[in-house]
Amino acid sequence: MIQPVILCGGSGTRLWPLSREQMPKQFLRLTSSQSLLQQTLDRLKGLTTSLPIIMGHHAHRFLMAEQLREMGQEARIVLEPDGRNTAPAIACAALLASDAGEDPLLLVLPADHVIGDVRAFQGSVNKAVDLAEEGYLVTFGVVPTHPETGYGYIACGEALGNGQKLTAFIEKPDSQRATELIEQGNTLWNSGMFLLRASTYLGQLERLQPAMLAACQKAVSMAQRDLDFLRLDEQAFCACAADSIDYAVMEHCSNAAVVSLDAQWSDIGSFDALWDIATPDEAGNVAQGDALLESTSDSLVIAEHRLVATLGVKNLIVVETPDSVLVAHRDKAQHVKQLVATLTQAG
Ligand code: GDD
Ligand code: MG
Repeated sequence: MIQPVILCGGSGTRLWPLSREQMPKQFLRLTSSQSLLQQTLDRLKGLTTSLPIIMGHHAHRFLMAEQLREMGQEARIVLEPDGRNTAPAIACAALLASDAGEDPLLLVLPADHVIGDVRAFQGSVNKAVDLAEEGYLVTFGVVPTHPETGYGYIACGEALGNGQKLTAFIEKPDSQRATELIEQGNTLWNSGMFLLRASTYLGQLERLQPAMLAACQKAVSMAQRDLDFLRLDEQAFCACAADSIDYAVMEHCSNAAVVSLDAQWSDIGSFDALWDIATPDEAGNVAQGDALLESTSDSLVIAEHRLVATLGVKNLIVVETPDSVLVAHRDKAQHVKQLVATLTQAG
């Protein structure tokens, strides 16, 4: 039986002003009437799984509960008092999933991705089961298209069951290293999803990050029920160092494998990605909401509350929300993150 673990605690900033601290990317209805969290849960239908565990920030508890209620989805929602990145979140999920003496396969899924071909995704997950049961930390690799610096890179080795041995994992290389990795061939992007036995992951953590594991064990053993939520113990969890599974574990483990994923995957890292996911019109425009585009081409216009009209422009990103409006050149889509950093500094 597969135990889904949905990572729902991030705070994406590259989609500002749509994504906010109180409303990060995973809760947005970006590409359909379903939010990205809801799409992630829906994607499990057709796989044999137990009740999903959703790991999220306590500040988002009612958003998570409401979005689940809306789709009639049951889940165990576990609240982190503060973000400590993905390695501790997965550790707590692994501990909770094995508390009845079981040792399930954890299917770790980010809550903020889009996957166009759900059947292909499920096919890859099923292909990964044998390797995960054998004790491999299984990653799902995507063929790279450009030297993206926001992803992990997987160097693939010899064939292994339904996949390949992972010979090296390089998280977020700089652009020169990313280019080299792609040129060297047989390199895949890490999609950020994993299939791993709870005991395999906890064993690696014990070896690589014993203090983190001890903090998570304490946070889980002292966790408190609160309505339908399970709250990790604040003091214990906050004592834990923040780190991602990618840096804390994947870069240092020797028992990892990769199964290929060819499923129109996107992590919607920036507004740019919306051109690939939504279907642009003949002029190359993507428009959502009350938008009027005249003599406009290759532009993205999202109007949440007011009419937005554009005239005689091209390559623009215009995002209108109740309190802020972003107008950016399409080439600068990746720089929205820096803009948000400046805004945060300015208070
Ligand atoms: N519960 C919880 N707690 N979830 C978290 C936390 C946390 O503290 N921090 C992040 N998450 C969630 C995010 O919401 C997202 O769904 C997922 O974990 C991954 O975190 P990101 O912060 O989005 O990671 P990333 O995009 O920089 O990098 C990861 O994903 C890439 C693919 O999109 C890495 O795994 C890369 O190697 C990978 O290429
Ligand atoms: Mg991400």
